[in-house]
Parts: sequence; structure tokens; C-alpha cells
Amino acid sequence: MSKTKTNKFLENIKKHRETKKTEKFYGNLEEYLRIVEKEKDIPILAHKRLFQQIISHGITVLDEGNPRCNKLFDGEKVKVYNYFSDQFFGMERSLQKVMRFLHSASMRGEESRQVLLLLGPVGAGKSALIEHVKGALEESGKFYKLAGCPINEEPLHLIPRSLRENFEKTYGIRIEGDLCPICRHRLLSDHDGDYTAFPITETSFSVRGRVGVGVVPPMDPNTQDTSLLIGSEDISKLDLYPEDDPRALSLNGAFNVGNRGIVEFVEVFKNEIEFLHTMITATQEKNVPSPGKQAMIYFDGVILAHCNEAEWNKFKSEHTNEAILDRIVRVNVPYCLEYDQEIKIYEKLINRSDFECHIAPHTLEIAAMFAVLSRLKPSNKADPLTKMKIYNGEEIVEKGNIKKVDIKDLREEAEDEGMSGISTRFIMKAIDAALADSTKNMITPISIREALIKQVKEQIVNQDDRKYCLQFLQKTLHEEYLSILEKEITKAFVTAYEEQAESLFNNYLDHAEAYVNNTKVKDTVTSEDMEPDEPFLASIEEQIGIKGSAKNNFRADISSYMFAKLRRGESIDWRSYGPLREAIENKLVASVKDISRIVTKSKSRDVKQQKKFSAMVQTLIDNYGYNGDSAEEVIKFASNNLWRDS
Ligand SMILES: Nc1ncnc2c1ncn2[C@@H]1O[C@H](COP(=O)(O)OP(=O)(O)OP(=O)(O)O)[C@@H](O)[C@H]1O
Ligand SMILES: [Mg+2]
Repeated sequence: MSKTKTNKFLENIKKHRETKKTEKFYGNLEEYLRIVEKEKDIPILAHKRLFQQIISHGITVLDEGNPRCNKLFDGEKVKVYNYFSDQFFGMERSLQKVMRFLHSASMRGEESRQVLLLLGPVGAGKSALIEHVKGALEESGKFYKLAGCPINEEPLHLIPRSLRENFEKTYGIRIEGDLCPICRHRLLSDHDGDYTAFPITETSFSVRGRVGVGVVPPMDPNTQDTSLLIGSEDISKLDLYPEDDPRALSLNGAFNVGNRGIVEFVEVFKNEIEFLHTMITATQEKNVPSPGKQAMIYFDGVILAHCNEAEWNKFKSEHTNEAILDRIVRVNVPYCLEYDQEIKIYEKLINRSDFECHIAPHTLEIAAMFAVLSRLKPSNKADPLTKMKIYNGEEIVEKGNIKKVDIKDLREEAEDEGMSGISTRFIMKAIDAALADSTKNMITPISIREALIKQVKEQIVNQDDRKYCLQFLQKTLHEEYLSILEKEITKAFVTAYEEQAESLFNNYLDHAEAYVNNTKVKDTVTSEDMEPDEPFLASIEEQIGIKGSAKNNFRADISSYMFAKLRRGESIDWRSYGPLREAIENKLVASVKDISRIVTKSKSRDVKQQKKFSAMVQTLIDNYGYNGDSAEEVIKFASNNLWRDS
């Protein structure tokens, strides 16, 4: 068995090696020019290469047709970059800004001389985003370079200044930058100054191989050394060559290896300011100092940095840092504030791990709701739960009406939202903890809520923050989950739930319309004309607290709403109008309340009830994603909390 596996794998190795065997280009300037003539984008600059690679995956515009666009982005068109969309969620606004930066920079605008700074709270996805951007470079394929050049420089640098104007006219390509000290030295010593003889080859971007990607980790101030950025003079070679001979240079700093691609500054403002000065020349002059006494070295690359808000505020407050501040384009990367999208983040992270267990319905939803609630700023216009739902694009029904709160107003009221609160990592740890505590290899909304409460108590030190979070877990979400669960169990109880809802809807509409127009309703069985059924109408309306004279308006509103929809050729069903939908749901919930109370208590079931109960459990399993254990757990929870015998 293992032999065949190995044999199979060896075959794969062989194939892989063969694909790698394709001949690498190795030639001179003449051959390179012929390639460039055919493909003008070959000597492309770093920002443009990156931009083009990312958009080569396509762009989807979320426009009027998309519900997320209407409800969440104020109807403004949002570009979604496909390269990011299957891995990053609820981050469209930040991504759009990042791409706007790259776009301007790719046209050699001012942005090409600026640092892109991602600013956001812990675990908001900054590092993941930068990794993904680096991945785009890696897949962008090969690029040409001077053979043996430690900074992989563009072969067109060989062309002397005096010929460049002519070159630009001929090819329509502007050449930026000059030979690095090492290549200049080699040109003179190895090729006698004949730049047409200098060898040119190709290579490809590699994060791990440090080709075109340089990373600068935050440095301890005591060991901070600019060689990390710009390389050094190799002491072992100083014996071989005279002082200031370029051959003694080791150009292996981040700006050297990141030439042509990306230089990333991790936690950038943890570094001392002196250390960052290279950033200024690299952006503004597109030059970095060389170690020793050599001339400045041309640099073409995208500089990406990230940090959190505390470090940024500290850095910003020192006026001596102005020179750097002026060269920074800041993009906030807040936490996701749409819980539907937040759920997708957890799903992504869970799929990546070896995690194998049953996740009961609504488990991740409750965790995501908690995360979002903790991140929202309090509003004067809506309570936290309502605000959370509006941010998720949901319709809020209040006293029989759709609550009119403009998402735009909520956003304006809370500037810079999502820069604090519970992080994605915090939630993932709670998920792990809930699983570790489970004896049945599952997590449920109940166990995740317990794990979150425990973790908040253990880890949030600030008293106020802790209280703030606990109130969401112990009250808001406890109630919210019960209401979700009650509806779900009702659906499982009521056979043919959809049909029943639809029939209530049709009846309601017929009678309400007759009431509004002062006409009669035709009985479907006897074909007799009859008066609108007032008790029936009221039994629906009272479900959402509509009483007395408010009923007239409600009935008129619904009739005209549905009529308008039909006139536009749109179809209507029981879900079409939020308030009525809620009333119908509540009515159905109420209709099974008694049976729910009796049947979910194992002690009091008789044979007939037992049958009904089993059918309900089976529906939960077949149609709603539970397994036997999780169904049992949530039903027990419901019977203890929802239908307590009073
Ligand atoms: N909006 C999001 N969409 C998809 N994944 C996300 C999102 N936000 C966070 N993540 C995921 O959460 C994890 C943590 O994010 P990451 O390490 O990138 O955060 P960070 O902002 O760099 O935090 P820190 O400041 O602590 O370094 C990553 O695996 C990332 O993929
Ligand atoms: Mg990070």
C-alpha cells in the first residue's frame, strides 16, 4: 500500500521537476530590447505590476441590484476586487482605498512616492492582507533583471542617460533609475564598459526566497541597525578589496531585496525614528543610501507598513515626525461590523484548521453578534442590537412599522468605528475552548456563550469593558438567541410551516383589503360574500402590538404596499412586508406554544405527544442542520428558558 503511494508521489515529483526545467532566458541587451518591443509592459514599475496583477482577477461592482450595496453602502457603487473577495470579508471599504492608492501610484502619481500604512486594531486582518498582496506578486510570474545583480535591477538601467530620450521616443517607455554600484563596477571591470554585453536573465518573485519582497520586523532600539534596511559592508571581503570597492558590499537589506516588489514594515512605529529615515529617501527620491561610501541606490518598490492605533497616536503626536507623516497614506482597517460577514471569517479560519466537530446552527452567528456588538459605538438613534442588525442590512420592525434609521446617520454619528472591541482571535480561542470542554465533539450557541463569558471574565481586565461585554452575553444575546430558537422550534413543529404562513398571509390580505375598500370577501368554499373577519385580522395584528385605531393605518399601508408591488409586476409572498412577516411568525409561534411547553418536557409526554416530539426533532436534524446531540441540547435549553411552567 505505502509503496504505491510513494510511487505515485515520486511520479508527481518527476512531473514537478520537469515543469521547472523550462529554459531560463539568458541574453544580452539586444535580445532584451526585442522582448520589450513586443511587450511594452515588461519593464513595468513595481506599483503598476502589483495593481495589474490584482485587477487581472477581475472586479465585481456591487450596484443597485445587490442588497448589500443598497442597504450598507448607501447605494453608492462599491468595487469588489475578486482577488480578495473569497478570503476577506466585510472589508470592502478598506480594500477599495488600498486599491485606489495602488491605482494612483501605478500612474506614477504622488502616491508612488508614499508609504501605504494600514492602521487597525489587533487581529483585524492587516498582516493577512499584506501576505495576500505579496501573494499577488508571487503569482505575477517572472521578471527580467541584470544577471548577478543583488538588487535584481531592471536591465534598462544599462542604457546611458544620453540615449534615454531617444529610447523613450522609440519605445514609449520612460526609464527610471541608474545602475547600482555593484553592476556599474562589473560593467567596467568585466565588460570593459560595453553595456550591450552585460548579461540579462530572468527570475521570479518569492517571499520565502527574499526575491522582490523584503520584510522589516520591529527592532529592539538597542540592536537597531540600518544594515537590516540597506545592507552592509562585508567585513570578510574588506581584506580582499580596497576600501570603498563596491565588491565589498553586501546588498541584502530589506530595501535591496524588496527592490522591484514590496518592502513591508511590520509594526512600523515600534522602531526608533532614526531607523525610519531611509523610508523618507526611498519614497521621496526613490533612492536608498548604500552602505559604505557609495552613491545612493535607486529603489523601485511598494512600501507597505502596518501598526495599531496606540502606536500611531504616539508617533503622530511628536512634531519631529512630520517629515515621515507627510509621506504616509493611511488606510484604516477596522474590524468587520457586519455579523454575516464576520461569520464568514470564522468559517474560513475553521476550515483552515484541523478542527472537526459538529457546529450547531446559530453558534457562529451568536459569536459574531457578540464580536460586532462589542465593536459598535453607542448610538442615540438605536439600541446596540438594533444598530447591529441595521449594519447587517436587516429591516427592523418596531410597533408595526419598519424602523426608519438611516445607516448613513449611524455611521456619521460614530466616526472611526470598529477600531476597538473583541478581536477575531478572541472569538477563535473561545471556539477552541468550547470544543475542548465538549464531551460530544460539538459546539452550540449555548456552549459558545458560556465559553465567551468565561473568557471575558478571565481576560478583560478593565472593569467597564468587562461589564459592557458581559451585559451583551448575559442579557442581549441570551434573549436574542431564545427568540431565534423559539422561531426555529416552531418551524420544526408546524408541519408545512411555509404553507401555513402563506395561507395566513393570503387570508390577511384579502380581509384587510376588503376592510380598507369597504367591500366584501368571497368565501372560497361557499362563494358567499361575507364581511371582513375582524377578530381574525386583530389576532394577527396584536402579535406586533397593533391595537385600536392604529389598525386602520396598518391595513391601509399593507394594501397599498402590496398593490404597488403587484402593479410593478413583482411577486409577493408572506415575507414581502417586514411587519406582517413578523406578525405571522409570532402568530405561528403562539399557536404551538402550548404544545411546545408540554411536549419538550420529557416527563409529561404521552404516546401521541412523544410522536409529535420525535417528528419535530427529526425535522430539526433533516432540515435545519442539527444532529441528535445538538437538537437535544437546544430543546432542553428552550424548555428551561422559554416555556417555563408558571
Ligand atoms: N475581515 C476579515 N476577513 C477575513 N479574514 C480576517 C478578517 N479580519 C481578520 N481576519 C483573519 O483573522 C486572523 C488575524 O488577522 P491578522 O493576523 O492579519 O491581524 P492583524 O491586523 O495583523 O493583527 P495584529 O495587529 O495583532 O498583528 C487572520 O487569519 C485573518 O485572516
Ligand atoms: Mg499583524
